[in-house]
Amino acid sequence: MSNFLSVTDRTKQEFNAIIDNAIELKKSYAKHRDVFKGKTLLMYFEKPSTRTRLSFESGFAKLGGHPIFFTGGHISSGKEDLRDTAEMYSRFTDLVVARVYSHEALVELARHSKIPIINGLSDLEHPCQALADLMTVKEHRGFENTTLAYIGDGNNVANSLALACAYTGVKFKIATPKGYEMSKDIAAKAKALGGNIEAFNDAKQAVQGADFVYTDVWVSMGDEKEERQRLSAFKDYQVNGELMKIASLGAKFMHCLPAIKGKEVTAEVFSSPQSIVYDQAENRMHAQNALMMHLLEKH
Ligand code: CP
Ligand code: NVA
Repeated sequence: MSNFLSVTDRTKQEFNAIIDNAIELKKSYAKHRDVFKGKTLLMYFEKPSTRTRLSFESGFAKLGGHPIFFTGGHISSGKEDLRDTAEMYSRFTDLVVARVYSHEALVELARHSKIPIINGLSDLEHPCQALADLMTVKEHRGFENTTLAYIGDGNNVANSLALACAYTGVKFKIATPKGYEMSKDIAAKAKALGGNIEAFNDAKQAVQGADFVYTDVWVSMGDEKEERQRLSAFKDYQVNGELMKIASLGAKFMHCLPAIKGKEVTAEVFSSPQSIVYDQAENRMHAQNALMMHLLEKH
């Protein structure tokens, strides 16, 4: 079964082909209007979402398909086990995107799914975000001699970005506070895939030579109980005008959103001409549509 729980569920060639197809699709929706006709997408969300919901729901409908959104207590009344949920949706739908607290839940759903399953964000990875982000990097600069610096929490977004950079030949530099490093397993996997990764505890070192400076919230969904200690741990990791000056001339600012202005990024950098955050958000739809076409063998 073709899944996308991790960036590495696709090969390097497939990942790059999906990006190229997404760039092409963005210009040619009229040609693909019926590609998902007669297909149903289940959107199974344990956590809130703006971009992931909008981009999947709108994107699938734009190509002729029918999305169904389930969240909170509506998922199997919260009583069924994941096996029964997977058995059920496999009989009614063609594709599922799941946003979960624990990555293990995705693995368990995938074990019993008879249809492709996409990770719409877990505690471990956010591969659809990384796919759209690398599409955005390709559009703005290309992959050759390109460095992306990630500043902040070594979380789901950072993990998928490290793998996506390894797949595309983009150098990945990351700065996190001690204790908030990215997954060691994923860093090792990215390196084994040929990834050029450098990890720091100092944001200034990480942004030197960076063409893209990326950050994410300091308190992810599920981490709310740690808010106070996180705000203190991350206080030297804000992306502000001073930090952007250390990056390459003309460096772009990226953020997966939602952003908390005044915390991980200043309002000034967020709204500066260097910021490409809305391009990133828009590309979620094009990248995911190209991904779903690939998983449903429509390409
Ligand atoms: N970037 C992202 O996944 O945003 P949402 O949480 O709003 O879906
Ligand atoms: N790291 C964030 C990403 C939100 C898109 C979270 O998991 O909440």
